Amino acid sequence: MLIALCSAKGAPGVTTSALALALSWPRPVVLAELDPAGGDVLAGYGRGEISAGGLADLELAARRGGPARHLDSQLLRLDSEGRARLLPGLADPASARHVDWDRLAAALAAVEDGAIDVVADCGRLRAEHFPAAVAHRAAAVVLATGSSLRAVRAATRAIAELRERETCPGMLGTLVIGPGEPYGEREIGEALGVPVVGSLPRDQKAAAVLSDGAPAGRLFAQSALLRAARTVATRLVESAAAHESRLMPPPAPVPASVTTVGASRVR
Ligand SMILES: Nc1ncnc2c1ncn2[C@@H]1O[C@H](COP(=O)(O)OP(=O)(O)O)[C@@H](O)[C@H]1O
Ligand SMILES: [Mg+2]
Repeated sequence: MLIALCSAKGAPGVTTSALALALSWPRPVVLAELDPAGGDVLAGYGRGEISAGGLADLELAARRGGPARHLDSQLLRLDSEGRARLLPGLADPASARHVDWDRLAAALAAVEDGAIDVVADCGRLRAEHFPAAVAHRAAAVVLATGSSLRAVRAATRAIAELRERETCPGMLGTLVIGPGEPYGEREIGEALGVPVVGSLPRDQKAAAVLSDGAPAGRLFAQSALLRAARTVATRLVESAAAHESRLMPPPAPVPASVTTVGASRVR
């Protein structure tokens, strides 16, 4: 299942939230850094780790005709078991204009075939070279927003735009980062007219580990941010899967003769 995360404007915490969700995902997952403004995870959480591969290499491989095959070799482990892996984003944002998002979206959708989910950090919705093709293929597009009036206004316009552009045939939802400043989940859900998949609290200490590689203390896994991320991740998987199954055509009716044969065998 492919889940796309994006924001309306500013920096509400899409990358930090995407990373928190990936580390808390209930199934094997790939965090794909698709923000056309460039990847942040290696420089932040990875404390300046350098990777030769990632999205740029995958794009090169795709041009030579075989993106899905090459995806595995571009992934880095985010945890010791390798349940969560990272597709590092672009080191040079100038190369975003060369990325064929359509082709990449197809490669990421192929990962779904297995039991692996993809959480894609797509950055700002209105950015030049926004990966709209990825949002279009996603089972869910989640707009991350703060809870101030300013943030909620911007999010409302962004949701309207996603609807108008028909960017997102899958589920459309919102993730509230730092609820209660002053609006809560219910008010934000009503204002935006989309389901709230959950909220992540303001937790500066844990966020600094994820966004800037601050040392993770013993209690990092039990931090308010990671505890909430586990709840949101589980809820997101469940609601996106439920939405997807509603969109699937019902199973073909079993031919009458087959039913009869089976029934006679039972008798
Ligand atoms: N839940 C949170 N609590 C506190 N600070 C946060 C939280 N999420 C993000 N931040 C902080 O906000 C800043 C921007 O986060 P980032 O994830 O890079 O935003 P975006 O991807 O939307 O541009 C970072 O300094 C990060 O530590
Ligand atoms: Mg970001």
